[in-house]
Amino acid sequence: MSGILDGKRILITGVLMESSIAFHAAKVAQEQGAEVILTAFPRPTLTERIAKKLPKPAKVIELDVTNQEHLDRLAGLVREELGSLDGVVHSIGFAPQDALGGNFLNTPFESVSTAMHVSAFSLKSLAMACKPLMSEGGSIVGLTFDAQYAWPQYDWMGPAKAALEATSRYLARDLGKDGLRCNLISAGPIRSMAAKSIPGFEELADVWNTRAPLAWDMNDPEPAGRSIVALLSDFFPRTTGEIIHVDSGVHMIGA
Ligand SMILES: NC(=O)c1ccc[n+]([C@@H]2O[C@H](COP(=O)([O-])OP(=O)(O)OC[C@H]3O[C@@H](n4cnc5c(N)ncnc54)[C@H](O)[C@@H]3O)[C@@H](O)[C@H]2O)c1
Repeated sequence: MSGILDGKRILITGVLMESSIAFHAAKVAQEQGAEVILTAFPRPTLTERIAKKLPKPAKVIELDVTNQEHLDRLAGLVREELGSLDGVVHSIGFAPQDALGGNFLNTPFESVSTAMHVSAFSLKSLAMACKPLMSEGGSIVGLTFDAQYAWPQYDWMGPAKAALEATSRYLARDLGKDGLRCNLISAGPIRSMAAKSIPGFEELADVWNTRAPLAWDMNDPEPAGRSIVALLSDFFPRTTGEIIHVDSGVHMIGA
């Protein structure tokens, strides 16, 4: 059976639990014929345990996206395993507790800086770390939570996602000449570890219960995973700097 990622080699960050959006991207990518390599934070053992639940084995490489040594050695380690890459998934987000949950006006810059470093600047770091492996071009895909709006509880993750969205556009601008596309999926709320770390996440997510034109299941990351795979495939060949909403339509409902 042929798949839309047949013959493609894809690096996927952010597999922590089965509830991780990245786990579902990896699962669908393998089902669609890709060879997948995973990166892990904070410990490879956690990701290795979850990776056993994927349809096929996947090698795991440790990567703290704020650690320059990890970034510098990444291309060499991936080259040993796969030779080259056709796609990269950035599924990484983090903000310290005092940057979330209603503390917006009092959050110290150190916490904002951490949120920006891990959640936004890291898209550039990861793209540049993997660029030497994508000399034939490729697709970079990240995950955002619609940064056009001020959400309850989301606080400094909002500006961090706005920075991520802008970073994606600038990467698309600067990497287009190398045949590299950079796009984001703007996903609706999913009950992942990242979501559980946001105090009041359920209040934020409740909007989906009342406004989503299409049914939305917060326990199902597969729609986001499938859309990531679509962007990794050859079926969006002239799309870059784009944000595709996978949110059951909530982004376009006024009231
Ligand atoms: N869950 C949601 O409601 C939702 C909605 C829209 C977008 N997103 C985004 O999707 C992405 C994946 O989140 P998720 O919901 O699957 O949660 P998750 O907790 O499963 O994934 C977050 C990942 O970030 C990784 N990470 C954190 N700090 C890191 C670092 N320094 N270096 C490398 N990796 C690091 C964690 O290891 C984890 O795998 C994030 O960008 C998140 O903001 C999530």
